[in-house]
Amino acid sequence: MIEQSPVKVAFSPLIPYMKPYQKKLALVFALIVGVVVVDLIQPWLVKEVLDRYVTVSSPDSSGIFRMTVLYLGLVLLSFGLTWYQDMVLQKTGLSIVRAIRIDLFRHIQGLALRYFDKNTPGRIITNVVSDTEALNNLFTQFLANSLRGIFTLVLIMFFMLRLNIAIALYCFLLLPLVLFMAAFFQKKIRAINSEVRHRLGLLIGFLAENLSGMAIVQIFHQEQKQQKRFDERNKSLLQSTILENQWFLLFFNITELLGDLAIAALIWFAGKGVIEGSLSFGVLYAFVGYIRRFFQPINTISQQLNPLQSAIVASDRISRTFMEIPEIKEVDGAKAPLVAGGITLDGVALSYRPGYPVLHDINLVIEPGEQVGFVGETGAGKSSIMNLVTRFYDVTSGSVVIDGKDIRQWPLEKLRRAVGIVQQDVTLFSGSIIDNIRFFQPHISEDRVREACRLVGAEPFILRQPLGYNTILSERATTLSAGERQLLSFARVLIFDPRVLILDEATACLDSATERVLQNAIQRVSLGRTLLVIAHRLSTVQQMDRICVLSEVRIVEQGSHDELLLQRGEYWKLHQSGMLLDEAARASLCEQTGIACNTARG
Ligand SMILES: Nc1ncnc2c1ncn2[C@@H]1O[C@H](COP(=O)(O)OP(=O)(O)OP(=O)(O)O)[C@@H](O)[C@H]1O
Ligand SMILES: [Mg+2]
Repeated sequence: MIEQSPVKVAFSPLIPYMKPYQKKLALVFALIVGVVVVDLIQPWLVKEVLDRYVTVSSPDSSGIFRMTVLYLGLVLLSFGLTWYQDMVLQKTGLSIVRAIRIDLFRHIQGLALRYFDKNTPGRIITNVVSDTEALNNLFTQFLANSLRGIFTLVLIMFFMLRLNIAIALYCFLLLPLVLFMAAFFQKKIRAINSEVRHRLGLLIGFLAENLSGMAIVQIFHQEQKQQKRFDERNKSLLQSTILENQWFLLFFNITELLGDLAIAALIWFAGKGVIEGSLSFGVLYAFVGYIRRFFQPINTISQQLNPLQSAIVASDRISRTFMEIPEIKEVDGAKAPLVAGGITLDGVALSYRPGYPVLHDINLVIEPGEQVGFVGETGAGKSSIMNLVTRFYDVTSGSVVIDGKDIRQWPLEKLRRAVGIVQQDVTLFSGSIIDNIRFFQPHISEDRVREACRLVGAEPFILRQPLGYNTILSERATTLSAGERQLLSFARVLIFDPRVLILDEATACLDSATERVLQNAIQRVSLGRTLLVIAHRLSTVQQMDRICVLSEVRIVEQGSHDELLLQRGEYWKLHQSGMLLDEAARASLCEQTGIACNTARG
């Protein structure tokens, strides 16, 4: 690969987004040039005043007044131009970052679930929020300051040479020294800065983990210990931040000192020239002004290495995210068949990681309207089958066919409308209950939402909430019980009226009474739908037309409840082991053992 310059790497994701702002950028460039020129004319102007009107035999006060007004005008102009330039630049930078963020989010939303297995939410959040911010800094700090710095330096050198070539050349001797020093300090500061960010990351990570796991921390009574660990992280962050500040101040003060020394040397040597009359006082004054301004841009430019460094890392991460190809892709011109709900799994295998099959040689034909239950021990691959039917993951081999068409040939949107799933882990969003159920689609009427809630038996508890359907849920809906969340999620799926309905442990968290309500609801809503139900409880699956038993990556048994019990195979074993206790069996067990078995799960 051809080695690219760091600046090019940093700017690469920005370039396409900069195109629409070409005119704005040209304006910014012109404004920067304007500001620099206006700034640097000022010492020259003072020199003119001194040489023409002050240090002459007959000083001219009206001339001084005119020049003072001009000087004031320049100062105000510089102020105005700088303000305008900053404003245009900030606005352009923020618009570009906004566009990148929107595209990033769109791209990430289109990625397959496998991407989210590999990347933690923390990493993705950093990518969308901070990495784009680093690009903004690249734009508003690096670009503007470097341009301004370089242009200032060139112009100062020009002015100095115009004033006095010999003194100018002496001054330029300082340049390598200052550059060397800036390089040394920046290297040091950059290393410390990266440590600061690393430690900040640790602190944030620790905090995030603790906040989401607060219940565990409290139940294990670890508050003191966690506080101590938090203190340690805070302290180490503080130490490195202080160190960074110390080095920065040292650098800043040394450059200032160097500037002062240069001025002292200048006054010493050039002062003689003024006394001897070979140099005007105005020129000396102007040189003092320019040397002061000479160090500023070098400082500024060397400080830009930090935003540049962050931007390179950020750009790399953003480009990588953009390069992630959605693994679940829609083929061109995909058309959905007439949806009836017939599903065929033909020699299906799935490995989340190469070499570790989770499903192998699964063959299953499900008729439209059939009700199929899935049972098997934890980790047997039940949810994984549903991941394939919903096309959250693609099969490693074989095919999933719905209504005569391989689901890879379906338009994704149509497929996801046809197949509804109530997942094991319920996700709700911050917003009202009603909006969660209709998924923020206001065109879905309130009546329809209520109907779905009544159907699944969710209405009684919703009406108990402070504002009923309009009660606002927090991000993870922690104010609701697990069973209540499941009911909401069930109602949410029904709103979209899917032909194929998948319930993955949808009754696991419900008490027996609510489960019965839901059982009835399932019977009602299953009319005209294909139903796939995963359950650990026998009561949930025993009425299904067929039950599939999964074990060690395969379907090992199929048949109705009675047939399977007669076979005395895996299903019978599960049944015996108590994993699939039905209500009657549980009640009799409770009676026999005298243990209160109110907790529903077997
Ligand atoms: N996204 C994933 N990436 C990698 N491995 C996974 C992923 N999801 C599941 N697995 C693995 O695949 C196997 C089957 O998981 P699956 O979720 O299908 O089990 P399950 O039968 O639904 O179990 P449970 O009854 O506990 O819900 C497990 O060994 C699990 O560790
Ligand atoms: Mg599961």
